[in-house]
Amino acid sequence: MSGWKRVRLDGRARAWPGTEREGRVVEVVIQHGAADIAALVADEIEKLLAAKPDAVLGLATGSSPLAVYDELVRRHEAGRISFARARGFMLDEYVGLPDDHPERYRNVIEREIASRVDFAPGAVQGPDGNSDDLLGACEDYEAAIAAAGGVDLQILGIGTDGHIAFNEPGSSLASRTRIKTLTSQTRTDNARFFDGDVERVPRHCLTQGLATIMSARHLVLIATGTGKAEAVHQLTEGPVSAMWPATVMQHHPHATVLVDDAAASRLQLGAYYREVFATKPAWQGL
Ligand code: GLP
Repeated sequence: MSGWKRVRLDGRARAWPGTEREGRVVEVVIQHGAADIAALVADEIEKLLAAKPDAVLGLATGSSPLAVYDELVRRHEAGRISFARARGFMLDEYVGLPDDHPERYRNVIEREIASRVDFAPGAVQGPDGNSDDLLGACEDYEAAIAAAGGVDLQILGIGTDGHIAFNEPGSSLASRTRIKTLTSQTRTDNARFFDGDVERVPRHCLTQGLATIMSARHLVLIATGTGKAEAVHQLTEGPVSAMWPATVMQHHPHATVLVDDAAASRLQLGAYYREVFATKPAWQGL
């Protein structure tokens, strides 16, 4: 496309020059539903793994990424994607759930994605919420991410209160992996995974901090449903504030927020975001 200059640089620098992204805090992509979002995110991961087979993926739990994981499994089974040399780092983990508890995030990630594709044994890691030394486990986790060269593409969901990973409102924008106390809002939201009983949802977790997440080279956040509409509005159009932790993403040079029509319903600039995405040059990808 004339007038557009494709700039190939590594990592963070790549996103800024000559792209529409530089004109907005995050790129918002509005799609009709979860399947359309999943296809776009899987395209991006397929491209990443083709270019860099030993890429480091940031894996999120929650319902938002599930359609993406299903699409990745389909593409893996079709011989289009291999994770054999890739590595994965989870965002967070509950403290104190028994090792075999089905909602322990390590087990969720194993069930939803890791065991369904060809990750090498041990290639997917999470913070150890059952360690005798939780602070040491947080330090070890930061060191492991750094030793792997950092996360290339981080998949994210968002809580109704604007949290990402388990960085609840009030989290330091400079935070690293640490122990957090969950809000009653988050425990209520997550009670559906514990037979609807909020008392069974742990009170504590280990979570990558906001600065840890910001170190990833590409942030890809998925949100669907009207319950996420206010958080998505704040994330993309509100002031940066620890009260809506996801707003820190406005400082990231390459952040993509994929939403369905319902999650986009509070956006002031929704029509503009649709127009930008419909007319963006195909080579830009997400
Ligand atoms: C939990 C997870 C987050 C996730 C959020 C939203 O709190 N720690 O990583 O983004 O739930 O979950 P869902 O996608 O199910 O709405």
